[in-house]
Amino acid sequence: MPAFQTVRGMRDLVGEEAAAFTNIISKARETAMLYGYREVITPVVEPLELLSAKSGEEIRQRMFIFKDLGERQVALRPEFTASIARLATTALKNEPKPLRLFSVGSVYRYDEPQKGRYREFWQSNFELLGSARPEADAEIILLTNRLLKSLGLQSYAFKIGHIGVIRGILSQEGVEEKTQNAILQRMDKKEYEEALKLAPNEHCRNMLDGLLKLKSNDCFETVEKIKSYVADCDKAKGAAENLGEVLKLVVESGCPVQVVEPAFARGLEYYTGVIFEVYIPQLDIALGGGGRYDRLIELFGGEPTPAVGCAHGIDRVAIALQTQKTEFAAKIGKRVLVLSVNDALKVEALKIAQMLRDAGAAVEFEVMGRKMAKALEDADKRKVDYAVIVGERELKEGSVMLRNLSKREQTIVPINTLADKITN
Ligand code: HAM
Repeated sequence: MPAFQTVRGMRDLVGEEAAAFTNIISKARETAMLYGYREVITPVVEPLELLSAKSGEEIRQRMFIFKDLGERQVALRPEFTASIARLATTALKNEPKPLRLFSVGSVYRYDEPQKGRYREFWQSNFELLGSARPEADAEIILLTNRLLKSLGLQSYAFKIGHIGVIRGILSQEGVEEKTQNAILQRMDKKEYEEALKLAPNEHCRNMLDGLLKLKSNDCFETVEKIKSYVADCDKAKGAAENLGEVLKLVVESGCPVQVVEPAFARGLEYYTGVIFEVYIPQLDIALGGGGRYDRLIELFGGEPTPAVGCAHGIDRVAIALQTQKTEFAAKIGKRVLVLSVNDALKVEALKIAQMLRDAGAAVEFEVMGRKMAKALEDADKRKVDYAVIVGERELKEGSVMLRNLSKREQTIVPINTLADKITN
């Protein structure tokens, strides 16, 4: 047999990399808990039709699609939002609003593999269903801020825009939705010239071109410029006003906004309102992104339900933390090796190991049948804090030998005080 490799674009995570992932996931879960988001677990495989409905051309072309043995067209999820919108029209249909839902797991896109871009990657995903108000958009941005801050990330900043500005202009110009989507796809990829070429007439082209030039260093000033630029277009003007309201809430709550992008677009087609992405200066790939999608749930046959959400790319957040050399303190208790001097004492040793785990210590049991010296040497190499040696003589007196591996000291400790001695 050949030595197998992972499939292109898929990774094994071991050691520090795996620990960094679990750290981010536990912080995301903690953020969900602190903001009142309930965790839901949805399938990795979903009907193709559900996933492709409003995901946008870019993602549609990059899905892992196959027929299952029952001849159903299915795909690996490229994101969570479609699954959550489906849940909102089925199992959670009658839940009172607002509904706050959190998910975490792997998602799949046939992207060209490179640093920070994989074919299997992980997202932590937050969706807030049932509110059309700016404070809902602000909450999603602020919880992203909290998550990144709690991980110790420095100098990250948000890029914010509103999909309704360009859509408003294009609708006023009579551009049909399919062409709007094509223009927005190009804008998302920063292929502005290509995007402008798709505009149906000179006036429309000039409007888009002018919009691109409104960007300034001051976010609030940019919003004011957009407002006056689209003063004759009701829909776009409403969008700019809404953007200003969300921006105010976010900035005044202390969240770092780097720029308001007048012609901001994102790959996904379901967005209807404020959209955002978050970056650090050292990397030009987004660590997370999201926005408002008020019509998706209705499109899936549910009640009209305004919604806003975001996803954080765990692989990219891990790269960002590594780039900034952010240390994280793994929350594990003291590490202990428990071993017995002979086979007859194994049961007693197992009981002591269990007692120490109940007290919060991370306990390994010697399962290799090694000689004491070898087992201790190995534990010391792996930075285990203590060895608990269960021996006949000590046990008769209700005690064990406790060895501090780094200090190379050992004392006899009564079993009833052992947990306290190790964990305090
Ligand atoms: P998205 O911007 O497509 O949004 O993905 C969110 C994040 O996933 C990105 O910002 C990035 O960090 C990460 N990501 C995307 N592609 C890759 C890749 N190939 N490799 C590694 N990381 C990647 C969504 O998925 C929306 N569902 C977010 C949302 C939720 N909007 C509303 N609710």
